[in-house]
Amino acid sequence: MSELVKFSVESGVEVITVENPPVNALSPGVPEGIAESIGRAADGASVRAVVLIGAGRTFVAGADIKQLEEQAHGRGPGAPNLHQLLKSIEDCPKPVVVAIHGSALGGGLELAMAGHYRVASPDAQAGQPEVNLGIIPGAEGSQRLPRLVGVAAAIEMFVSGKAIGASEAVRLGLFDKIIEGDLRAGAVAFARHVAESGGPHRRTRDKTEKLGSPESNAAILDAGRERARKIRRNMIAPLRVIDAVEAAVALPFEEGCRREREIVEKCLAGEEARALIHAFFAERAVSKVRGISKETRTHSIRMAGVIGAGTMGTGIAMVLANAGITVLLKETDQAALDRGVASVRKNYESAVHKARLTAHEMEERIALIQPQLTYSSFGDADIIIEAVFENMSLKKQVFGEIDKIAKGDCVLATNTSTLDIDEIAGATSRPHMVVGIHFFSPAHVMRLVEVVRGARTDKEVIATAMALAKRLRKVGVLVGNCRGFVGNRMMLPYMREAQFLVEEGSTPSQVDQALYDFGIAMGIFAVDDMGGLDLGWRVLQDTKRLLKPGDRTPLVLEKLYDAHRWGQKTGAGWYRYEDGRTPIRDPEVEALIETTAEQAGIARRSISKEEIIERCLYVMINEGSRILGEGFAQRAADIDTIYITGYGFPAYRGGPMWYADTVGLSKIYERILEFHREHGEYWTPAPLLERLVRDRQTFAAFDAANEQAVTGSPESQ
Ligand code: CAA
Ligand code: NAI
Repeated sequence: MSELVKFSVESGVEVITVENPPVNALSPGVPEGIAESIGRAADGASVRAVVLIGAGRTFVAGADIKQLEEQAHGRGPGAPNLHQLLKSIEDCPKPVVVAIHGSALGGGLELAMAGHYRVASPDAQAGQPEVNLGIIPGAEGSQRLPRLVGVAAAIEMFVSGKAIGASEAVRLGLFDKIIEGDLRAGAVAFARHVAESGGPHRRTRDKTEKLGSPESNAAILDAGRERARKIRRNMIAPLRVIDAVEAAVALPFEEGCRREREIVEKCLAGEEARALIHAFFAERAVSKVRGISKETRTHSIRMAGVIGAGTMGTGIAMVLANAGITVLLKETDQAALDRGVASVRKNYESAVHKARLTAHEMEERIALIQPQLTYSSFGDADIIIEAVFENMSLKKQVFGEIDKIAKGDCVLATNTSTLDIDEIAGATSRPHMVVGIHFFSPAHVMRLVEVVRGARTDKEVIATAMALAKRLRKVGVLVGNCRGFVGNRMMLPYMREAQFLVEEGSTPSQVDQALYDFGIAMGIFAVDDMGGLDLGWRVLQDTKRLLKPGDRTPLVLEKLYDAHRWGQKTGAGWYRYEDGRTPIRDPEVEALIETTAEQAGIARRSISKEEIIERCLYVMINEGSRILGEGFAQRAADIDTIYITGYGFPAYRGGPMWYADTVGLSKIYERILEFHREHGEYWTPAPLLERLVRDRQTFAAFDAANEQAVTGSPESQ
């Protein structure tokens, strides 16, 4: 018997337990173990029914994604074909009851659907998230789910990839019963009951009544494809899964399964699956930090202080309160404090309106946020997060003040997006307790948090910040203390290049459209308008100080700033706005760009979409290489995670560094050399990129080579 699957017989019911921590993935040994137990139960004279259950925190989270990764890269056979196993469960002469707690995801749900009955804990979830990995269900889920929940509901689950809760699963016919209390005992009792009732115990494959008619399905399939194109822009798998559902309704079960298999194989051979599987593991790898192990002590956080109740401070306060942490929210005067508190309430009310929160939960969370005008209670805080204006002398003053009142083991964090953490830390008597925790706007929505390590930051403080990010349900990525850290440092040359492109002949909307078509959530000029051109202007003034003679600098931004076209907040920027948020092409800006270019002697020409993408992305990739080479990011994959979770980079392209690998580093390098010749020194190739090209390497190989150093010896710095 497989080590990963245990069995026991209780009152005539064979209980098969999958025990493959952490998430009971269907790794080698698990399907075999289940098959063996089912065979025994089928033959066992004393066994009347079967319960299949998971040990630990969840039922089965699906196929082993490591195996899928190997197949996607042609390095292994991939996840096993579960057809025989699922058939043996469905054909078992004794009723098979699947007991679900935690999540039944992907192959886990497919396994469950082969059972005759499904019972679940009240908090259980079920989903087919395969599209998030660029594939479709590979264990007959596309054939069984529509039979259980109907075509429309199945398509919604497949395309959205979102899990549904237990009561919704019961409503749809996916689960048969919710069991309060002990799931295992309840499932055994349920199994005895159905065995005694004598059946029939219908096989899911034989259920066709929810499959609908060709007429009704045509409209549902069309609507599904439309939705897939909308919410899964440019992706292949969400459309292919609907082809598989079409097969489920048109073909006999076995043929439908074969069709599904063909589609999965094709998806796994494609760039989309490779990129998304990379993104999945990249997001999980970020929590592994060089020099920090599971044993590294973290400070416990029960009470937090937040300084500044502006855009960021209010969002950060909400995020902390959402995690059950008491928050002292401080402002300089009552009016600003009232505005901050009102903004918190407004955001929560909107969540209640969208049914994401109950009114009771909202009040509980608001009660955790205690408005303050002084630091008098801050001595009790376990962490203080500063979110005042982006001004070094103000930040130093604030850190000097909190240094006097914070308790000795209080973590002192700054949300600065550009300033030097070490200089801020220098304003305190305890620079080892100071760390950057850089949230993104809006803080209560965006998943990314950059945890910025200062030169003297204690590793326990870093571990605490990383653990806090996880507790806040954010993706915390450790970055080094350089200008703009990782995300904004790469954003700057990208934004500047976009401005050069418009000066040379594009329009803001052409650049934005090319980026949008590439898959980026929002064009760079629309982003600039949202953030505010005054901010971009300030950054430009700052960077101008660092320019060398002959360096090129954007010209139009200054003129827009002078004309008080500061973006959405003033109703006009690179675009104009009628409703305050939808960008509309503005001929006035285009004329301004033309005259500016003319005055500067820049010859305008027609610029292809391809060049727009190359210049915007390669300049970003070059900066990413520099960051990586200088050690300000631990891995290329960390940069990918930052860009996917914080900057709207399409996950199905794997992030900028992964995308660079797929284009080919030597091709990118050649183009960078051309741009260097045409446009100047700022296109100098990053040394790491040069080295990787010379060694015929990739960023993925660079990461793999470094992984040993990152995870191998926990205490090595
Ligand atoms: N295969 C392999 N490893 C997996 C895995 C899987 N299906 N699911 C999770 N893991 C690993 C993670 O990589 C992580 O490993 P490390 O600790 O080494 O980083 C560990 O399990 C814990 O995962 P999380 O940190 O994500 O834990 P969580 O509690 O936050 O979330 C979860 C748990 C909801 C199950 C989440 O891990 C998840 O969504 N997993 C993926 C589920 C999925 O996509 N399943 C479909 C797989 S494809 C499939 O099944 C194809 C098919 O049709 C046969
Ligand atoms: P904001 O201008 O909206 O809010 C700053 C608030 O701090 C103001 O309400 C001000 O009254 C208050 N304040 C100033 N001095 C104070 C003091 N001594 N004590 C208490 N409150 C004080 O600014 P925003 O946008 O929230 O930015 C805050 C910080 O977050 C800045 O460092 C910024 O760079 C950073 N940041 C901003 C992002 C954004 O998109 N807005 C994104 C990520 C980081």
